[in-house]
Formats: sequence, structure tokens, C-alpha cells
Amino acid sequence: MVGSLSARVERPNPRYFVGTGKADELKSQREVLGADLILVNHALSPVQERNLEKLTACRVVDRTGLILDIFAQRARSHEGKLQVELAQLKHMSTRLVRGWTHLERQRGGAIGLRGPGETQLELDRRLLGERMKQLQKRLDKVATQRAQARRARLRNELPVVALVGYTNAGKSTLFNALTGAGVYAADQLFATLDPTLRRLPDLDSGPALLADTVGFIRDLPHDLVAAFRSTLAEARDADLLLHVIDVADPEREQRIVDVEAVLAEIGAGDVPQILVYNKIDQVEGLQPRLDAGDTGSPPRVSVSARDRRGLDLLREAIAGRLAAERIEAVLQLPSSAGRLRARLHQQGIVAEESADEAGWRIRIDAPRLLVEPMFGLPDGDGAWLRERLLAPSEDETYNPRATAH
Ligand code: GTP
Repeated sequence: MVGSLSARVERPNPRYFVGTGKADELKSQREVLGADLILVNHALSPVQERNLEKLTACRVVDRTGLILDIFAQRARSHEGKLQVELAQLKHMSTRLVRGWTHLERQRGGAIGLRGPGETQLELDRRLLGERMKQLQKRLDKVATQRAQARRARLRNELPVVALVGYTNAGKSTLFNALTGAGVYAADQLFATLDPTLRRLPDLDSGPALLADTVGFIRDLPHDLVAAFRSTLAEARDADLLLHVIDVADPEREQRIVDVEAVLAEIGAGDVPQILVYNKIDQVEGLQPRLDAGDTGSPPRVSVSARDRRGLDLLREAIAGRLAAERIEAVLQLPSSAGRLRARLHQQGIVAEESADEAGWRIRIDAPRLLVEPMFGLPDGDGAWLRERLLAPSEDETYNPRATAH
């Protein structure tokens, strides 16, 4: 970067976004410094971008454009690439129209209804529209596949913990440290554009999955929120969020607020959280620690993902949250209910069992998260379990309505 200019903009100037005086200052600064590119940390209208480009004779990229560029470089999965291209085309399509007007004016063109410029524009817009439709179709397909994968996972009945946080907070590093996986981690923004899912081992609460997600940023342009909905869905559908915070970031309090805002926007505002203060190695005097958090406030854990310090405390906090709500009950199963008995065992929620000629007496004691997926079991088993386990009564004998064997 060769220089920067800041301006207080109370009412955006429709022409340049900044006032005319500031725009002229920008023009002369760019000449003096010989800059090749002007980045504006704000969303510009296509007209404003064009006008600034004309005035400064330099390429101007606004906030959305820059984010899209970075996303484009970072996207690794098929889905990520499709999403980025679609968002880029959407961004471009609004600019194409104005760009053309501006070019026509430059040529001093008297615009006929079917002038060559217009034909080209029509062609461009049609091609763009077709490409966008095609991309959307492919994305829908990928989204369906992902939804199927998620359902398969639910059938697999493992709780999902998702890493969320401001970009560069250290999510991927933590993901690797917790799962022992070699996921790409780099000192770059949005290194993780695509959710990655791994088994989270060594938890006292039992097996769980850990998902890494795209880094959040302030004022995430709306188009992008929409484009990345399926990526962000990982956070919304999670059972627990690890909100990773860069403890060495002077703006960390603001970042927390920004992340909360995005979470609320994607419908993940109510998912329970653990606040993970990462990079304690960067701040003198900080040690790994766990603050359990009172009722209402989430637990806080201080760690260094890089140095793998505090990870046991974090695992303890995760297991604590996942196991926080337990379901305990005693079920009386007749010997005809062997299938359901097998399922209960398979799920690992049976604490104790005794058998007699009538059948089995089974004591359930397990995290609610592990028990809940059983309520979806077919053939009336799920409904019966729900009733027995959530509102235990004296009569626990197995007798589901739809037991067609
Ligand atoms: P996005 O993908 O942009 O959302 O980033 P991220 O949150 O996944 O961050 P990532 O794990 O890629 O880490 C960003 C940078 O922080 C990398 O250079 C890491 O090496 C560094 N980093 C992560 N954890 C720590 C830590 O505990 N201490 C220090 N000093 N650096 C860390």
C-alpha cells in the first residue's frame, strides 16, 4: 500500500460517494504516489465507482469487489468456487449497464436503439444471465447433495460443533489442533471458504464432529450472505459454536459484536456458544484457563492453537456443554422389542440393563444430544421413546402403536 485517505461521509455524494473536494484530493494523491489501484472500504454504487475511475484514471475496487476477489482466490471446493463466481457475476451485472452508458458517453455516441454498443451489451448481459442461471442450477444440486450428507450425518446421530469467528482469528489452526487434521491454515483472510468436517476425538461426552467455517467480517455484503448461505448453514445447524476470538487483536470487542451480528443474520443466534480466546501466546502474562460461565453467559476458554496450549480445557468445556443436558429414565422392554433394544445399545445411551423372562429393564443415562436423534426412529419406536424419555411415567412398558413386525 502506498497511501491512504480517510473521509467522514455523512451523506454520500451520489457522484463520487465522497465529496468533490475529497475526490480531487484522491486524484492528486494517486498521481503523486503512482498508485495502480484504489480500494474503497465501503460499498459503492456502480455510478460512483465509474465516476471515481474516470476522475482518477485508475482502477477503483469497492469493498464488495475486494471481498469477492479474495473469496475467488481462496475458494477451494467445487461449491465454494461456484458460489464465488455467481456472486462475482451478480456484482458485475449491475456494473455492466452503467459501464456501458459511461463508455457510450465517452465515445460521444448518439445512441441508436440498435447501435453496435447496445447489441454488444445485450449479448454480454444475455451471456452473463445464462452463466448465472447455469451456476445457480449447479449450486442447487450441490446444496441438495450437502443437505443429504447432513441428513446422513443426523442419522449417524453425532453432535456437531462448529468453529465460527472473525477472519484470521485462528479457526483453521484450532481445527487442526483439535482434530489432528492437516487442513490448510495460512495468514490470509478467508483461508477457509468451504466448511470442513472432521471427527472431534477425545471428548468425555462421546463422539462428535467439528466443522470449520468461513471467516466472518463486518458489514458482510448482503449478496454474499445469500451466496454463502449453504456454507454458513453449517454454523446454523450446529449443536454448539466455538466462537474463536483473536485475543491480541486490539479491535477484538468490536469483532465479537460483528460476529454476533452475522450469526443472528444467518439464524444461528440461538445456538449455544463457547468463547475461545485464541493466541494467548501473543499477549504477555496470559495463561490457558477456563471460566465456566454463569447461567446465561457462555463459558470462556483461553488457548493458543498454535502452541497447542489450553486444548484440554477447551475439550473439557465442549464435553461439558454437550453433556450439559442429560436424559435419565428407566425403560421396560418386552422380549419382542429386541430391535429397539439393539438400537439403544448401538447409540451408546444404555447405562444399565437387567434381563428376566419378561424382557429387559434398561436404564438410560446420556446427553440429550445423543438421545434426541432416537426420537426420529421409524415404526413408532421414536414416538414411543420420546414419550417415555421426556415425560417418564410409571408405565414404561414397550407398547408403541405402530409396531408392525
Ligand atoms: P479464516 O480462514 O480467514 O477465517 O482464518 P482462520 O480463522 O481460520 O485463521 P487461521 O487458522 O488461518 O490462522 C490465521 C493466522 O493466525 C495464521 O497465521 C495462524 O498461524 C495464526 N494463528 C492461529 N492460532 C494462533 C495462535 O494461537 N497463536 C499465534 N501466535 N498465531 C496463531
